[in-house]
Amino acid sequence: MRFHYKCSDCGREYYTDGIMYQCPECARKNDGSHFPKGNLIVELEDDVLKAAAAKEHVTPNDFYPYPSPDPEAYPIGITPLMRPRRIQRKLGLNNLSFKLDSQLISGSFKDRASYEVALQAIAHGEKKIALASTGNAGAAMSAVGAAMGLDIVLFVPASAPVNKLMQSVLYGAHVIPVKGTYDDAFALSIEYTKLFGGINRNTAYNPMTIEGKKSISIELFEQMGRKAPDAVYVPVGDGCIIAGVAKGFHDLMKAGLINRMPRLIACQSEASDAISRAINNDDFRMIHAATRADSISVDLPANGRMAAAYVKESRGWAVTVPDEEILNSQITLTAMAGVLAEPAAACAYAAIEKDRDHLVSELGAAAEVTVLLTGTGFKDMKAFDGRVSIPPAIENSIEAVRSLPSFD
Ligand SMILES: Cc1ncc(COP(=O)(O)O)c(C=O)c1O
Repeated sequence: MRFHYKCSDCGREYYTDGIMYQCPECARKNDGSHFPKGNLIVELEDDVLKAAAAKEHVTPNDFYPYPSPDPEAYPIGITPLMRPRRIQRKLGLNNLSFKLDSQLISGSFKDRASYEVALQAIAHGEKKIALASTGNAGAAMSAVGAAMGLDIVLFVPASAPVNKLMQSVLYGAHVIPVKGTYDDAFALSIEYTKLFGGINRNTAYNPMTIEGKKSISIELFEQMGRKAPDAVYVPVGDGCIIAGVAKGFHDLMKAGLINRMPRLIACQSEASDAISRAINNDDFRMIHAATRADSISVDLPANGRMAAAYVKESRGWAVTVPDEEILNSQITLTAMAGVLAEPAAACAYAAIEKDRDHLVSELGAAAEVTVLLTGTGFKDMKAFDGRVSIPPAIENSIEAVRSLPSFD
């Protein structure tokens, strides 16, 4: 095997050829009122890391527990690293970059996790994958499933944006909208796999989701000329993406390719701030989330403990922003960078706008800072309702053009 598992809470190690989701010792004590314990970390064996370290250029495949025999069948990245000049000037941050994961095939970051879980399923001869999702993970898993011939069973809150659900239906998934929250759908999907089999891809519950997500750090390392950025702003709900970012840099460090971690900045809505509370106050209790940024609306973060620990270890911090600022950031990103981001992704930008002076006091204005823009706004145009509108049609004549109020 290329890896074994380690519990992120008690540190027990597990060596197995089979599929493992959680540390049985720690998970048994979870009662649904506090962030769950027992999520597993994948530890790559030394020979895997040595082989990666010896290469002139690395790819995520060098660090995957289940490497792909055919990466071109569903390419993961390399997504653009944008240098948004007008935003750089606005914030006075000349080395700011945007990592545009909205450019992945299904339109969000979630392709990264879904791809590695598909490779896990294929390696274990499983054809069915079940999951719960706020929308993007479901669409991503369904897209990967379509490309690789896997059956996807998807539990989503019935309130998820219609385009995300429609996408999954089009990709051929068995979509099951649930009258309840994302957290309800999460629990239901686990019950489903226990009773009806298949692999469960729930975020962080399946440790391969973090392994897939770490690919972004391997990409960033190569895109930045084989070095890590100084800080990464990450939109956070369950805390799986930010843990993936941390894990990628950890693996690079273990391989001897970098010698320090970037600061990890957890960006949340004030109306869904469970992980920020954990980072700031060691408060691991469930909350009642209610943000318009649907992808990061989470009551009980599935990977909250690991995410908070990684942020603190990196000497990073949390930033929370009101929904109003998130929605305004969507407009700033479109108008000043040409990037149409969904609310959850725009949250990371709203956070760096708010946090700009603090960031500069910590790392200086020349810091190499990356904001992860994790999902496209095309999936949820309703988020713009009441803020922008299409002008009314005019008669087909130059006189009508002349009489427009904006004409000069
Ligand atoms: C676009 C987008 N950004 C950010 C997140 C947050 O990721 P996590 O729940 O792993 O913290 C999600 C999760 O669904 C997402 O879809």
